[in-house]
Amino acid sequence: MEDIDKMEKHELFDFKKVRVDQFIAPDVCEGCHSEIYSQWNGSMHSKAFTDPVWRAATKLFFEDAKESDEILEMKACVKCHTPLGFRSYSISSPGDDYDKLADLPAQGIFCNWCHNISEVKHLGDAGYEVEPGGGEDDPSTMLGPFKDSDSPYHPTKYSELHTKSEFCGLCHNVSHAANKLPIEQTYNEWKNSPYNTGNPATTVNCQDCHMRQRPGIPSTGKTARPDNPGQACNDGPRREHIWTHYFVGANAVVTKLLGSELHSTMAVERLQNAADLEIITDSAYSKNQLSHIKVKVINSGAGHYLPTGLTEVRQMWLDVNVSDAKGKVLLRSGELDAKGDIDSNAVVFHTKLGNAKGDSVLNVAQADRILYDHRIPPKGYHIERYAFYIPDMAVSPVTVEVKLRYRSISPPLVQRLIGNSAPLIPVIDMVRVVDKINLSER
Ligand code: HEC
Ligand code: HEC
Ligand code: HEC
Ligand code: HEC
Ligand code: HEC
Repeated sequence: MEDIDKMEKHELFDFKKVRVDQFIAPDVCEGCHSEIYSQWNGSMHSKAFTDPVWRAATKLFFEDAKESDEILEMKACVKCHTPLGFRSYSISSPGDDYDKLADLPAQGIFCNWCHNISEVKHLGDAGYEVEPGGGEDDPSTMLGPFKDSDSPYHPTKYSELHTKSEFCGLCHNVSHAANKLPIEQTYNEWKNSPYNTGNPATTVNCQDCHMRQRPGIPSTGKTARPDNPGQACNDGPRREHIWTHYFVGANAVVTKLLGSELHSTMAVERLQNAADLEIITDSAYSKNQLSHIKVKVINSGAGHYLPTGLTEVRQMWLDVNVSDAKGKVLLRSGELDAKGDIDSNAVVFHTKLGNAKGDSVLNVAQADRILYDHRIPPKGYHIERYAFYIPDMAVSPVTVEVKLRYRSISPPLVQRLIGNSAPLIPVIDMVRVVDKINLSER
């Protein structure tokens, strides 16, 4: 590596260097923690480095990062997606080298990494330290939620950090490596939300929603989040609650593409318990009139904005269909065209990144501002207004059907990133409501 010196002086490299052989592979943990292993295996944490969408996005990023410092900019993309690859300096140049990375760092955010996170330096942008041991024959202390756990293999220690949102916020708050533009702010969104009450007894942490989910129990802001009794380790004591490790968000695409139907299904379950819709009608409707309906979109299930994370790529939108009793369409909004694009008049909840000229940019490397942010705050709502004309020949009653839909990425964008091998992108109906309007005779 030509300029380690230069790298080490850069703030991106403000951490202790570690070696790959100081860490233990997940299949060793599987020997005793088999259930937790099977939950984690297939999660986006286990796929953070092999994720083809991420790989393609980093290559795109690199194309435009040439002006500034190439290697440093590239490192910015691997910092959270292969934390061990980054901090062991095993990954030095973009794209092409990805398949040469050793097996363990290629497993993304793995058991031993999270359970060694020992010190917070600053929240976000991976501002933490790890305290590894000496590898398989000399395991490190595993930091976790128990005050009384005893393992024959590794030392254990209670860590308050692991029980709080701050732990997740170490990586789930991302800013631009060069200009510090805040890009993904999931932790800050949560921090300023009503779920963070300031009282530990009533605060709902990331873990309460994301580490209580299991199949059939989405565990969101609008559903129960029951305890999960069981054993943390195959022959460990029975406990009232074991935190699950599926780490499901909204990604039903890459999870499935890389082999886990279960994680994909659970992402759909989560999305279908994230929001509510209400159709607000006027007191009376008659023919030959411009008429209105309002749609209230409520973020009742997510502990952060809806959507959150990579919101310049995610798409959540309203699909509205107003038609009369004969099926004649009076209003249509949010339809998909043949290429899979959402109609340009639709209400889409997302963000747009831009540059100094005020142009919208796709590549994060070129962005220095957020041009547009239309999303729903936690426990908050938006009201969208629609107008349509009711002609004389309309037949009562009129049906109003509204769907809130989500997809991780648009088909044209994933095609552009990955080309012909791009996966099909499912559209997930999060909520659907229907109302009937009787037309009054005049
Ligand atoms: C993204 C970080 C992360 C990864 C990856 C991770 N864990 Fe955890 N784990 C946690 C957190 C956080 C908790 C505690 C949650 C709390 O107390 O709110 C936890 C809890 C535990 C516990 C205590 C029992 C329980 O679940 O409540 C064990 C044992 C454990 N993890 C083992 C593992 C193993 C084995 C793997 C890999 C197969 C793994 N973890 C991967 C973050 C992680
Ligand atoms: C500080 C940590 C951090 C850094 C640095 C980081 N990411 Fe991420 N990335 C995340 C987190 C957390 C998510 C999950 C958010 C979500 O799913 O919406 C994510 C998700 C993604 C995804 C979505 C993948 C998918 O399958 O939908 C892409 C693409 C991505 N990152 C690209 C990049 C690129 C390009 C860079 C470098 C410019 C980068 N990331 C740097 C933390 C980081
Ligand atoms: C030989 C069996 C064995 C292996 C292998 C093993 N563990 Fe454990 N681990 C245990 C036992 C037993 C406990 C205690 C369970 C309890 O108290 O409920 C435990 C507890 C834990 C805890 C909870 C610590 C706390 O205080 O909250 C974590 C975290 C953990 N292990 C992580 C790991 C990781 C990561 C690996 C792989 C690097 C691993 N373990 C490998 C047996 C094992
Ligand atoms: C070491 C960094 C790191 C830590 C700590 C971390 N994450 Fe992540 N997480 C990531 C990255 C990177 C991704 C994106 C992987 C991808 O999409 O390619 C991710 C993805 C996710 C996803 C899947 C998102 C989706 O689109 O479906 C969820 C859910 C998630 N993390 C929750 C958590 C929670 C909850 C915690 C705390 C208990 C946590 N994470 C801690 C780095 C981290
Ligand atoms: C009150 C429950 C709740 C809390 C608390 C919560 N989440 Fe979520 N999270 C959800 C729901 C529901 C979704 C699915 C809808 C969506 O994508 O926002 C979700 C989705 C996500 C996604 C995927 C977003 C995407 O579209 O790619 C990530 C990443 C995530 N959460 C991380 C976190 C982190 C980190 C925290 C803590 C700072 C957290 N969540 C706190 C309920 C919660």
